[in-house]
Amino acid sequence: MFNIDKFLHKDTLPGSQKWNGFPIFNFIGGHNDEELVPLKDLEKAAKKVILENGKILGKYNYTGPLGYLPLRKFITKKLKKGAKMDCSEEEILIVSGSLQALDLVNETLLRNGDTVIIEEACYGGVFTRLSRLNINIEGIPVEEDGININKLRDKLTSLKNQSIIPRYIYTIPTIQNPTGTVMSLEKRIDLINLSKEFNIPIFEDDCYADLIWGEERPPSIRSLDHSGRVIYCGTFSKSIAPGFRLGYLVADWKILSRILPYKTDAGTGGLEQLVLAEYCETYFFKHLKTLNKQLEIKSKIMCEALDKFFGNSVEYKKPVGGIYIWVSFPKKVDTKILFDKSLEVGVAINPGVEWSIEEENNKKIRLCFANPTKKEIEDGIKSLAEICQKQFGIPLNIANVN
Ligand SMILES: Cc1ncc(COP(=O)(O)O)c(C=O)c1O
Repeated sequence: MFNIDKFLHKDTLPGSQKWNGFPIFNFIGGHNDEELVPLKDLEKAAKKVILENGKILGKYNYTGPLGYLPLRKFITKKLKKGAKMDCSEEEILIVSGSLQALDLVNETLLRNGDTVIIEEACYGGVFTRLSRLNINIEGIPVEEDGININKLRDKLTSLKNQSIIPRYIYTIPTIQNPTGTVMSLEKRIDLINLSKEFNIPIFEDDCYADLIWGEERPPSIRSLDHSGRVIYCGTFSKSIAPGFRLGYLVADWKILSRILPYKTDAGTGGLEQLVLAEYCETYFFKHLKTLNKQLEIKSKIMCEALDKFFGNSVEYKKPVGGIYIWVSFPKKVDTKILFDKSLEVGVAINPGVEWSIEEENNKKIRLCFANPTKKEIEDGIKSLAEICQKQFGIPLNIANVN
């Protein structure tokens, strides 16, 4: 039997577990509602664009290294409308999901032992990436209106006194992951001013910004800055489907030209770009309305289920957009144990420890509501409450589902 072990370098990552399929009650991950993937209109768009323009797939990097031009053109329109950002196609790089944008920015800006600033509770994928690169992470608390600016200033000052210059400040300002908060306009401006004062770039991840339900979202941080210090990324994973693996990075050419050499995959999937460009031109904004209406309904179902089965024993803030709720448990609940025990009966949740560097966030969990059906949300939250009660005596009583 051939043994690969001696050929594997010691610093390779531990092997992945074999995948056993999705859990029955899937409250994790950035999945979308499968019923809302706009298949009919995607089919129409695909047929049209393949017949009219499909031949270009015969070439590598058919519209140059930045990606398919009609898609970049659509993104400029979309960013103008939602993020209030003026940008040209030449400032947009199409990437294979915004995860690739994170990797590209990290490869370009970070080296072993560097320091970055992030929001204390933050997207789990950021922690894994930064720790793999051996980066020092400094977390800043997030309040209801976004990052705590005073604490950020204190941190920047203290790092400066130690001659440490963070390589960037990473933020998810619009529907922050996992807290669901939206950074106010004032704080966006304060953040830019601080980044100017300390001369540090900002990395703005606007992953969920299309999924804001009510009032208009505040302008993106990049749209408020005219000095080229903000690198921005977004995605179609949340608005159309994560299976597309299509995202975009927006930056001044001076930065983009240094990022591009790290994109060594000869371009993001061409068929996806063609189809999405054709689809978006006609259907994107109409689809977004339908999607957001349904996500809002699902969030209400999730809140009702939490109220029904957990009563006042948990706290959460009603989401204003996005696909998840950040739920706080009383002190005696260890959500890592809750995670293990609930998975045994097919209920998957994100324990707070995976989404934060702060110990106190071990009392929190993230629950995604986009993918499960109404019944799955109700039954899954009931099961979660039963397990939590068995393990920790919380909640005191469990309501019956009608
Ligand atoms: C904040 C944030 N950024 C980036 C991503 C990656 O998204 P994708 O690579 O699907 O565009 C996610 C996924 O959930 C996320 O929550």
